[in-house]
Amino acid sequence: MSFNINKLHILYETPIEYMPSMSRALGIQLYLKRDDLTPIGAGGNKLRKLEYLVQDALDKGSTMLITVGGGQTNHGRQTAAMAAKYGLKCAIIAIDDYPGELSANMLLDRLFGCELILKKSDGRPESVQLDELVESVIQVYEKKGEKVYFIPMGGSNVLGALGYYDCAVELDRQAKELGIGSARVIDTVGSCGTYAGLYCGLKDIKSDLRLTGIAIMPFGEKSFARLEKYINEVKYAFGMEFEVDPGEFDIETGYVRGGYNLESAEVRNAVKLMASKEGILLDPCYTGKAMAAIMDMVFEGKISQGEDVIFIHTGGMPGLYTPHHRVEFEKELIDGVHIL
Ligand SMILES: Cc1ncc(COP(=O)(O)O)c(C=O)c1O
Repeated sequence: MSFNINKLHILYETPIEYMPSMSRALGIQLYLKRDDLTPIGAGGNKLRKLEYLVQDALDKGSTMLITVGGGQTNHGRQTAAMAAKYGLKCAIIAIDDYPGELSANMLLDRLFGCELILKKSDGRPESVQLDELVESVIQVYEKKGEKVYFIPMGGSNVLGALGYYDCAVELDRQAKELGIGSARVIDTVGSCGTYAGLYCGLKDIKSDLRLTGIAIMPFGEKSFARLEKYINEVKYAFGMEFEVDPGEFDIETGYVRGGYNLESAEVRNAVKLMASKEGILLDPCYTGKAMAAIMDMVFEGKISQGEDVIFIHTGGMPGLYTPHHRVEFEKELIDGVHIL
């Protein structure tokens, strides 16, 4: 399926890899779709969205990308890398505290030449503060002569969702080739672009793959309603013909573990298990939280023993170096450091 929409072609398809040791440990057949291996700026899911969004920015003659997120946003880091590659200026805007050191994604953003604009919260709703700040920052850069292209949180708009529509088509073909064409696909749900794109793609091609999302921050009725609206917008924007059935949205909302990007022992255990069994790094904000949820879901019988599961590894590894996560890992791992 092609929508006659230009996109950059920076990534080849990513592999699906079988995880033998994790499969044995959990009693399921676990595969990873390695979207952490996308080729620019340390990889991750946002590059699929940015292939469309940065092409659109270039087509419109933009000179600068501006996006938003938490201070340690992975999406921001990948946007900064794409801006560097395509000769665009870049700024990331966040209502967030400076963590006291330039590390993790913030360090990488600066290596890519991106400006970071952080504003301490004044207690009003974050979206209100962010909208105000974005407007004033865009004005400042436009006065300096830049033509700004604004990318919303997570690159999650109708155009960005096409990146994961494409991934759904790729997944379906690869899964069939592996003989797991009716596996359960699990992805991490933040700003919903990944889930929405996958949902549209899998529905549109009538795939037998079953999609489950895992929310990493509180996801209530309003979030489900926003997701439905978003998916309908994507569907109508590109003339897709399937029925959107909100009853089919399968999003686990019970594994948030306190809130967005908070430290959690269960998440660290999942990160350590994957690292020590398979040599693969998850992150403490998104993919580690989702893997901790998968482990609980297996334990609770929501995922059956022997079930084929394809977990989309959406990247985020630099988050391991985020100060508040790194210090907790250090407490648990320092005993294996032998200073002679
Ligand atoms: C590593 C990682 N995984 C998953 C997600 C969630 O993707 P989405 O925002 O499209 O729901 C993000 C979002 O920032 C991410 O950085």
